[in-house]
Amino acid sequence: MADQVVRLLVTAPDGAYLDLTAGDGGHLFWMAQATTSTARLYGVDVDAAAVKRAKRRLDKEQAVRDVVHASYAHIDQIVTRWPDQRFTGVLLDLGLSSLQLDQAERGFSHRFDGPLDMRFSQDAPGPTAADLINTLEVKRLAEMFREFGEEKQAARLAKAIVRERQDGMILTTRHFADIITRVVKPPHQAKSLARIFQALRIAVNKELDHIDIVLPKALALLQPGGRLAVISYHSLEDRRVKRFFQQEAKGCICPPRQPVCTCGRKPTLSLVTRKPVEATEQEIQANSRARSARLRVAERRTA
Ligand SMILES: C[S@@+](CC[C@H](N)C(=O)[O-])C[C@H]1O[C@@H](n2cnc3c(N)ncnc32)[C@H](O)[C@@H]1O
Repeated sequence: MADQVVRLLVTAPDGAYLDLTAGDGGHLFWMAQATTSTARLYGVDVDAAAVKRAKRRLDKEQAVRDVVHASYAHIDQIVTRWPDQRFTGVLLDLGLSSLQLDQAERGFSHRFDGPLDMRFSQDAPGPTAADLINTLEVKRLAEMFREFGEEKQAARLAKAIVRERQDGMILTTRHFADIITRVVKPPHQAKSLARIFQALRIAVNKELDHIDIVLPKALALLQPGGRLAVISYHSLEDRRVKRFFQQEAKGCICPPRQPVCTCGRKPTLSLVTRKPVEATEQEIQANSRARSARLRVAERRTA
């Protein structure tokens, strides 16, 4: 979605832009092509290996001033080290990168055998996916699969995991995927595998909590007229982004039946995209993950 992101986010060629999920530097690269060398571009990613790759890729881009290894949840503290502390555009491209997904040793995919890890930040003390799978009680496992994977077979899967644990720890993606495929039969198997792996990844990285933390912080970093763009990949993420944008565009949080506003809250955002922007057929052909991408953009109001 690089084209649409650049078109909707880069409103001033010499502005200051912040990519809160820099990944391998793809969006930063395209933003650098759309701006002048006097623009200031900054990036953040919680995955140290991704930051290394992004720095290498962006080495020759004069506008790119810094890419740091940190969680976007701490962005209010990170910006204090930069000359720019208010931005013309802030980008969040949620979830994980295709490269992370395809690296067996990261444990994100049921398509490869690897350690059941799933931490975005491999320096984080934990818990890993294996820690959760081997220690959570049956009720918590079922809740995790239901809440973060919207999985109908959550309770049966949780029970099967707890039974399997009695014979030894579950430490690999192959072992974990085998348990799922024993419980869920085709035609639902492929979807359940994807949903359960997603649920576990969201729990390991506390992804939904972090989205709720970062959205107001990102809004506070925008200059008047600055834009916030968020790409989400599943409905749990997109719902949060949509709700936040709608609340900030409305301002008042008084109950609808109250005749006069007493909260005094004013709108802070104007919606740039009323409906989420989706990937083009061409983008989906090039990268099948783009099929689920939803881009929402909003602009900070001047008063
Ligand atoms: C979809 S990828 C971004 C790809 C990037 N836009 C590009 O063009 O290469 C999402 C990235 O967000 C990072 N990430 C996930 N949670 C994060 C967090 N709390 N703080 C910072 N980065 C995070 C992941 O490590 C991953 O690299």
